[in-house]
Amino acid sequence: MSSVGTGLKGIVLDETRIAFIDGEAGKLVYRGYNIHDLAVHATFEEVSYLLLYGALPNREQLRDFDRQLKAGRTIPEPVIEIIQRMNAAHPMDVLRTACSAVVGLDENSREATVDVGLPVGIRLISQVATIVAAMHRIRQGLDPVSPREELSHAANFLYMLFGHEPTAEDAQIIDLDLVLHAEHSSNASTFAARVAAGTAADIGSCIVAAIATLKGPLHGGAAEAVQKTVEEIGDPQKAIDYIEEKIKAGEKVMGFGHRVYKNEDPRGSELRGVARELGHKRGNDQWFQILQEVERAMEPYRAKGIYPNVDFYAGAVYSLLGIPDEQFIPMFAVGRMPGWVAHVLEQYRDNVLIRPLLEYTGPRHLRWTPIDQRN
Ligand SMILES: CC(C)(COP(=O)(O)OP(=O)(O)OC[C@H]1O[C@@H](n2cnc3c(N)ncnc32)[C@H](O)[C@@H]1OP(=O)(O)O)[C@@H](O)C(=O)NCCC(=O)NCCS
Repeated sequence: MSSVGTGLKGIVLDETRIAFIDGEAGKLVYRGYNIHDLAVHATFEEVSYLLLYGALPNREQLRDFDRQLKAGRTIPEPVIEIIQRMNAAHPMDVLRTACSAVVGLDENSREATVDVGLPVGIRLISQVATIVAAMHRIRQGLDPVSPREELSHAANFLYMLFGHEPTAEDAQIIDLDLVLHAEHSSNASTFAARVAAGTAADIGSCIVAAIATLKGPLHGGAAEAVQKTVEEIGDPQKAIDYIEEKIKAGEKVMGFGHRVYKNEDPRGSELRGVARELGHKRGNDQWFQILQEVERAMEPYRAKGIYPNVDFYAGAVYSLLGIPDEQFIPMFAVGRMPGWVAHVLEQYRDNVLIRPLLEYTGPRHLRWTPIDQRN
């Protein structure tokens, strides 16, 4: 029997041309471009095109792609009704169900091919943003806001969320956040999407599998947990004792550690600056100071490769923008959509069923016991 690779740690699943992560160096590259360059220069639309098509778009290609994204922004009325009916459910349950309904109602989405998956995937990038915004509105007792054609993906998302046009600065912050979340190689949710694609399931099913996997606190839920921690600590001077107690109790500190990064997560360092500046502008330096103190308390664990991850500063940024905690994981999904779609398409292009083994450790030779003789 081959050795057991618990959690598939260190196992190379396949080849990919979508993203490269050097965990030791803290480096992330989308299709050959360093994330720090993309953070400075690229919009979410450009990054989505890059991930889906493998190269940066020229002006005409970007215009055409943007048109396709904009054309996909509406969601059918029955999906709105589903969101309304699920008002009390966990937002990720609502997103998963609404996304499933969107593709279930689209009879042209069923073939598991690149030709069908690409346009459906592009539509879903837009529709997932609309679902999240509509869900937020409905949960606030408000009507969903229809998308606005002339706004960028990020600006339109904020517009649909809050019902008024965002400032250019807020839209730019969300655009950056979406770029930073857009892709991350074979993370758990993307792996789930590829497993579904490997069975030749339609792209909608693959995205639903990814959304379901993102829900867990060890993957998508950390930003929400970090923000709760910040609010619980409440005072920068209390941060060090709080963290020491957590560690003593054997608990993990949310927003720290990563399966691949054993150095600073480059996405976290991008968001650190945003959290500092935004907090300062909004008259709330305290959250950033608490986060800094938590980072300081965690410094001794750097030797073990435990650094802040992308979620560490994301929660503070979302909260400062007025996005409630419960929408943090859905926000992650809005950003990760192009990465999920790109991986499903890559899997379709050279498909193989993904089916690892489990080493059975239970008994093998029990004798059948009739029901009335069982304890
Ligand atoms: C992300 C995560 C699941 C990676 O897990 P992993 O690769 O399986 O690593 P492990 O959980 O085995 O951790 C390895 C060691 O580091 C420690 N560690 C990892 N993350 C830690 C954290 N956030 N706080 C404290 N210790 C941590 C573990 O306790 C373990 O220590 P040990 O070797 O003494 O047992 C894990 O770091 C974690 O739970 N982090 C908090 C949740 C989070 O922020 N998730 C978002 C990821 S983007």
